[in-house]
Amino acid sequence: MRIGVLCSGGDAPGMNPCIRAIVRAAYVKGHTVVGIKHGYRGLLEEEFFIGADGRPEMSGRDVSGLTCRGGTILYSSRCPQFATEEGVRKAVENLTRNKIDALLPIGGNGTLSGARDLGKVWNGQIIGLPGTIDNDLRGTERTIGFSTAIQTAVEAIDKLRDTAGSHDMMFLVEVMGRHCGDLALATAVAGGCEIVSVPEIKTSIPAIVDRLNFFRKSGKKSMIMAVAEGDDSGGAYKMLEMLKAAGSPYEMRVVVLGHVQRGGVPCADDRILAARLGCRAVEALGEGETGKMVGLVKGEIKLTPLEEVIVDHHEITPSMTEILGLLAT
Ligand code: F6P
Repeated sequence: MRIGVLCSGGDAPGMNPCIRAIVRAAYVKGHTVVGIKHGYRGLLEEEFFIGADGRPEMSGRDVSGLTCRGGTILYSSRCPQFATEEGVRKAVENLTRNKIDALLPIGGNGTLSGARDLGKVWNGQIIGLPGTIDNDLRGTERTIGFSTAIQTAVEAIDKLRDTAGSHDMMFLVEVMGRHCGDLALATAVAGGCEIVSVPEIKTSIPAIVDRLNFFRKSGKKSMIMAVAEGDDSGGAYKMLEMLKAAGSPYEMRVVVLGHVQRGGVPCADDRILAARLGCRAVEALGEGETGKMVGLVKGEIKLTPLEEVIVDHHEITPSMTEILGLLAT
């Protein structure tokens, strides 16, 4: 079987170990792997990874040393053209011409929506792999990259806390995650933040200011609030203006963590997840599976139909917000 593999959307730490797992598991099973560069854009432009032996195929040696490398050696992109009928038609044409029997796209919500659309018109097999710091997919408890991104954000918060404490002030730390608050919430709990705002819960400025006044009266001199970039307040800068206007008792500053959360050496958890998902995806192709995503469900790697994993709003874990509230007092 000739298996195409690509990374699409925002890069995530752990994509490289996942590519390594796919290539090596496929080799053992006698398959050939074609690396498609720059995600769906590379599929439309027929841009393939050229291996050490000069052929457009990936060998076990081409993926040496990838366990500890952030980013993706296949490169990534966002490709609006692929979201059109014409784009999908061209992708089918290119997959057929290059004799690719199966596709393993690694990415988040947008990537797997694209995979679902492709599956409606292409006869080949498709198994998606969840690779995004956002953790915005159903059918998996964690996406590849999520754990490393939490660690990166928490390390930044630990440093900011020193300055917040030294200057009696409050930092509003904007955390990535597009429409999903999982990264902000996990960061807030691990970083000991006093308050968090996420897209899944409506923001009430008066309630936050009440809470800040309570903290101030109880003797807290400094404060860290995690703000999800997709929060309905419009992000940390807007949040600061609204809190100021509503009478926040703290001097406030904004820090936007931004793309720093997407890079870095993947942590052990992401590497293990990437290895398990990559191997299972190849195995699933051998079983004739298609139109599904591999994901971590109750400690096991399971397959879930692509249709079910793509959601606008991933539910957050209510106990996490409760823990945060409890520990912040
Ligand atoms: O999907 C991953 C992500 O990092 C989101 O958290 C963020 O909203 C978005 O990508 C940023 O995208 P870009 O790098 O294209 O600006």
